[in-house]
Amino acid sequence: MNICMIGTGYVGLVSGTCFADLGNKVFCVDKDKEKIKNLNLGISPIYEPGLDELIKKNYNVGRLKFSNNLKEAVTKSELIFICVGTPNKVNSKQVDLSYVFKAVKEVAKVAKNKKIIITKSTVPVGTGDLIDKILIKLRKKNIDVISNPEFLREGEAIRDFRFPDRIVIGSNKKIYFKILKKLYQPLINKGAKFFTTSRRGSELIKYASNAFLATKITFINELANLCEKADINVEDISLGMGSDKRIGSRFLRAGPAYGGSCFPKDTKGLVSTGEKYNSELSIVKTVIKSNENRKKLHLNRIKKILISLKKKKIAFLGVTFKPNTDDMRDSVSLKIIPYLCKNGAFVSYYDPTGAKKDFKKLKNCKFYDNINKTCKNADLIILHTEWDEFKSLEFNRIVKNKNYKIFDLRNLYNFNEMKNKKIKYFSIGRPNVN
Ligand SMILES: NC(=O)c1ccc[n+]([C@@H]2O[C@H](COP(=O)([O-])OP(=O)(O)OC[C@H]3O[C@@H](n4cnc5c(N)ncnc54)[C@H](O)[C@@H]3O)[C@@H](O)[C@H]2O)c1
Repeated sequence: MNICMIGTGYVGLVSGTCFADLGNKVFCVDKDKEKIKNLNLGISPIYEPGLDELIKKNYNVGRLKFSNNLKEAVTKSELIFICVGTPNKVNSKQVDLSYVFKAVKEVAKVAKNKKIIITKSTVPVGTGDLIDKILIKLRKKNIDVISNPEFLREGEAIRDFRFPDRIVIGSNKKIYFKILKKLYQPLINKGAKFFTTSRRGSELIKYASNAFLATKITFINELANLCEKADINVEDISLGMGSDKRIGSRFLRAGPAYGGSCFPKDTKGLVSTGEKYNSELSIVKTVIKSNENRKKLHLNRIKKILISLKKKKIAFLGVTFKPNTDDMRDSVSLKIIPYLCKNGAFVSYYDPTGAKKDFKKLKNCKFYDNINKTCKNADLIILHTEWDEFKSLEFNRIVKNKNYKIFDLRNLYNFNEMKNKKIKYFSIGRPNVN
């Protein structure tokens, strides 16, 4: 099939490349000229394991094209996937659909024959209906709109695309289930569940899934707070609970707070949809509040560990919201690092994906390109992102300062071993080692 992906970001680039790898001809379009120029030079705009090789392979055989020319891509394609961003509006829980609507209008302008627009972007319930209205107003009877939310995770995106738990298609016209089934048949053959529902149902499944996972994380994070006070190891609770098949162990590990480009905005987006339909979503509201509050708890804990932040040297390991991605959106580090700097601490940080523009303007913040330099003179090391390279560090060899402390937001180390090594070690939902 010939496919057009509008938006060549984390979702559009990965799914477009993977569709090409399944034998389709894919046009990845983006309004960002620099991004397309780089992609045509073989430079990927994102860090995603395995992606560079897959892009190269499919680009070289001509199945994958990168372009700013929407007209050509739309004209040559039957399926038009919308993969543009759907952030929250500024200071609001509401979803900003302006990028989606703009993309739809651009497609409508150039589409001459029959086209299917597929929303892969995460869009609130009723967005398909709103797109219909735009198309009716533009007298575009040749374009239909269906929903196909994306469930891939950054860092595991290629595997998630190739082996999804389910493929959800939402349409009010059955004919489209058949067309999309044909597109996804290679994945269905490998065991992916092909699930069809109404367009609104499909839109809600995506928000409901993300809100549920965010709730699971928040639940164990709150239990971690209790464990810290009651001298219990939260990992035993995760294991004891997660072994129950009805509960499951995934997304049940205590940590900093959920972040990233999806959970924070999608929980808010779901609450906003609830408000629109006058339907109270009190659990999701509480989850959002608890997650925000959690960041303050960490700041207080750091202050307690160091007594005073003034002139303290803090090494920060990992700043992205999770490992194997360069995505900084809504990362907890964006709250912690500026706070530490503003309160007189000196922050040295390291991340395998390099320096971040988010911290460039901070006075007391410096990027180092390796772990040893970052930690050398630290009073406190904060382990923030679970990159593999942070999991077996010999702190007593790396750090010069004899009285250094560690705050491990990911419970990467065994606290009994830290005790044996006489390291002052603080972690999440487990006894402190002082
Ligand atoms: N990032 C994830 O892990 C993930 C997972 C599942 C679903 N989603 C959803 O997918 C959508 C896209 O997310 P993302 O992380 O890929 O966003 P992104 O910001 O990485 O990419 C969006 C891209 O769209 C481009 N764009 C915007 N308007 C355009 C237009 N009119 N024409 C051409 N290009 C245009 C932007 O330049 C940008 O490159 C969002 O709705 C998100 O919620 C994201």
